[in-house]
Amino acid sequence: MAKFHTLSISDIRKETPDTVSIAFDVPTTLKDDYQFTQGQYLTLKGIINGEEVRRSYSICVSPLDGELRVAVKQVPQGVFSTFANNDLKVGDELDVMTPTGNFFTPIEPAKAKNYVLFAAGSGITPIMSIMKTVLEEESGSTVTLFYGNKKSGNIIFQEQIEDLKNQFTQRLSVNYVLTEEHPGSDLFYGRIDEDKCEKFATHLFDPLTVDAYFLCGPEQMIRTAASVLENKGVNKGQIHFELFTSPSSVIEGKTEKTEHTETAIEIENAEITVILDDETSTYILENKQENILDSAMNQGIDVPYACKGAVCMTCRAKLLEGEASMEKNYALTDQEVEQGYILTCQAHPKTQKVVVSFDD
Ligand code: FES
Repeated sequence: MAKFHTLSISDIRKETPDTVSIAFDVPTTLKDDYQFTQGQYLTLKGIINGEEVRRSYSICVSPLDGELRVAVKQVPQGVFSTFANNDLKVGDELDVMTPTGNFFTPIEPAKAKNYVLFAAGSGITPIMSIMKTVLEEESGSTVTLFYGNKKSGNIIFQEQIEDLKNQFTQRLSVNYVLTEEHPGSDLFYGRIDEDKCEKFATHLFDPLTVDAYFLCGPEQMIRTAASVLENKGVNKGQIHFELFTSPSSVIEGKTEKTEHTETAIEIENAEITVILDDETSTYILENKQENILDSAMNQGIDVPYACKGAVCMTCRAKLLEGEASMEKNYALTDQEVEQGYILTCQAHPKTQKVVVSFDD
């Protein structure tokens, strides 16, 4: 299970006027806990103005880089992102959860694959990690990136992307798409909308020869690109995506997968058993409005969470007995739901007795 540890900040880099990347010092004793896969994210916890705030941010480096670094773009009224951009400094300590997330496909060095990546704004963060790792570890694979921004000055990681282009001339193709600055070609001017996706998939890559698509950015871009690709015959299973605009204002960094909502069925005085770190606690959920996560926290159980908005998956647990319904689900895949996983921050008991395990 993912766990928080206190890590000190080893470096802060201004990537653009409104984005910083933050690297953490990981002590040797915790190296294994913080090993990550490209595309994963970290949940950070800080006390800001006396209140505990948790946010999730994607790792922006490759596992081969030998550092743990996330990028944080300042969003309007974003409590954590403003704090990170304006106040954090090298040497400060933050509670950092061990890496989680499943926005990746396995690296297969012996295979030559084609990847197409769509990113907009800070959606580049996990895409950067994926792109770097694929290029470095799969020497026969190609990567085509479409990256939307307002202006060239907003392009996060532009220097690193240009370095990769120079290093992997034959295998990386980068297409910047700008909305507020004409880049010299109409094809790359404007939003990554249906028309653009159509043109890209007609002129710049052959959709049916691509092994994996990774999409990260606002919901509109993801839905549009995915639907154009599916209409062209691309298998849904090859299209992986993460949302960077939140369904609730609480979330500043991350993400969405398949939406899945149910109306809660109200069960009076359900008996809830929570298994966490091999310890079992049982209690009666008296307030039927309360979700399983909140009810467990009110019992003093130190259950993991970050967004409480059905997005980050930190509160994931497995239903071992009984049934539960989720108000929202932007994080679990259909397969995970079938396997019995729930987002406890969204889950309400549907049966008189429910057993959930955070250890599975
Ligand atoms: S705490 Fe983020 S999905 Fe439940």
